Amino acid sequence: MNNTPTRKPASIEQLLTVASSQLHNTSDSARLDAEVLLAHALERDRSYLYTWPEREPPTAVATRFLQSIEQREHGVPVAYLTGTKEFWSMRFRVTSDTLVPRADTETLVQLAIDQLNLYPGPVLDLGTGCGAIAISIAKEYQRLTDNSTDNSTAMPVEVSAADASVPALNIARENARSLNANVSFYLSNWFTHLPRKKWQLVVSNPPYLSPHDKHLPSLKHEPRNALVAADNGLADIENIVLAAKYHLLTNATLMIEHGEEQGWSVRTLMQRAGYHSIRTETDIASRDRVTLGQMHE
Ligand SMILES: C[S@@+](CC[C@H](N)C(=O)[O-])C[C@H]1O[C@@H](n2cnc3c(N)ncnc32)[C@H](O)[C@@H]1O
Repeated sequence: MNNTPTRKPASIEQLLTVASSQLHNTSDSARLDAEVLLAHALERDRSYLYTWPEREPPTAVATRFLQSIEQREHGVPVAYLTGTKEFWSMRFRVTSDTLVPRADTETLVQLAIDQLNLYPGPVLDLGTGCGAIAISIAKEYQRLTDNSTDNSTAMPVEVSAADASVPALNIARENARSLNANVSFYLSNWFTHLPRKKWQLVVSNPPYLSPHDKHLPSLKHEPRNALVAADNGLADIENIVLAAKYHLLTNATLMIEHGEEQGWSVRTLMQRAGYHSIRTETDIASRDRVTLGQMHE
């Protein structure tokens, strides 16, 4: 007698309905999560699910899908289950060694590009994780250069990126290779192991959550050293603000992403460290997100 449990065949729509209700209490985007994970298990686009809702995926696919739903129910981010995350209209590989890049961080990328358009020069991304910021900036300038017929409108920008995590840097390098982005990577504790040079723009999305932040339990699958900093989440930001002034060219800019309630603190840190033209910019949800300051000397 065959004791292998048999799964009742289920259509795409039935699988999505069951999975969405299973994720209802865990995720704000239960149906979307289920669609992304089923499309991933099927190795198809989401449009396939809408086109063929009555089709029954093979048992092995349905089983794989339901296992991923169970992991999602335990809080594993969708990006870790699919191994990819879209950022700046590109697909980045991510693993549990890298933070999942957030849409909020595209605000920092846009500000960096605006700044480099005004003051081109070498740019450094500190705490690069999967490389999302550095690679997005590099690709933007590679695209401009490729499309330019007039050399004066598209200056090549030299992009460097650093992280203290070896596994994160390996993923960042892999992303740069697969996305064909020209970025130099360094293993460095902030500025300590970087080449002796100065930068026109330093950008960073450093760890900025307080060790007591109420969101931490729901972020337990992401690396703690990418999220949490001492001193109410400000320790790494302060470290970067103080060190960056020795690594910036004259009139160069430091640009730091931070929590929505940290704008005033970051501006104060920059003021005390002697930066000028300090301002905080908001993200698409109008929350304080990025603070910029210039170093004149
Ligand atoms: C909030 S994550 C940002 C990742 C990525 N830049 C992004 O925006 O998605 C912070 C990153 O800083 C790195 N990091 C933490 N401490 C560091 C240090 N002392 N020196 C360099 N990088 C560090 C972490 O490994 C992590 O990749």
